[in-house]
Amino acid sequence: MSKHGMKYPIIAIDGPAAAGKGTLARQLAEVLALPYLDTGLLYRAVARRVLDQGGDPAHDGPEQARQLMPEDMRRDDLRTPEVDRAASLVAKEPEVRAALLERQRLFARARGAVVDGRDIGTVVFPQATAKFFITASPEVRAQRRYIQRYGQSCTDSAALAAEVAAINARDGQDASRQTAPLRPAEDAVQILTDGLDAAAVLEKVCQILQEKGIIRV
Ligand code: CDP
Repeated sequence: MSKHGMKYPIIAIDGPAAAGKGTLARQLAEVLALPYLDTGLLYRAVARRVLDQGGDPAHDGPEQARQLMPEDMRRDDLRTPEVDRAASLVAKEPEVRAALLERQRLFARARGAVVDGRDIGTVVFPQATAKFFITASPEVRAQRRYIQRYGQSCTDSAALAAEVAAINARDGQDASRQTAPLRPAEDAVQILTDGLDAAAVLEKVCQILQEKGIIRV
């Protein structure tokens, strides 16, 4: 049993691009003393390998997914706009998703985990202890992505519009794919985070986990 009284809790955090899933999941993992898995990094690392080989992200993902090594996820060039686009393309491929599925489940086997992605509550861990679907308007998410990338907020409306377009394109692709599309699980708690900073989102989630009896106070 964990100190919170649950055996191997798994907390699933899904949602569209740049909604703040990673920040929330990392902080929540710390609060709950659970391991944290950012599943987007797996798809990004596959995409990076395809790009490095001069391959086509729409077709060459499966081979690279099967050869993925732990060090591929530690590279510092996985969050570029080019990799954003290529990750969403490799992620459409059922063979890529199948090659990564067991790896994700194994990660949580020993001690549970906080896991963020697109299909965690629907496909990877349908029996998760708790599921959250984190959203924000495209404009808010574009601004968050810009700050994450450049360390300051964007004052150039054309640059912000380009970021909104890129986010909308990726969400459209992630939500319309056949295999494991981006969508909230039926039993996920949806949280709209416009106007909420990271601390407020964390507080809200912790409060819900307390109400559900997953965190004991
Ligand atoms: O950080 P951000 O929300 O922009 O993206 P990410 O979580 O790093 O995911 C990058 C891409 O990987 C997404 O656009 C999805 O296409 C794909 N992905 C997925 O298909 N399933 C997951 N569980 C996680 C990511």
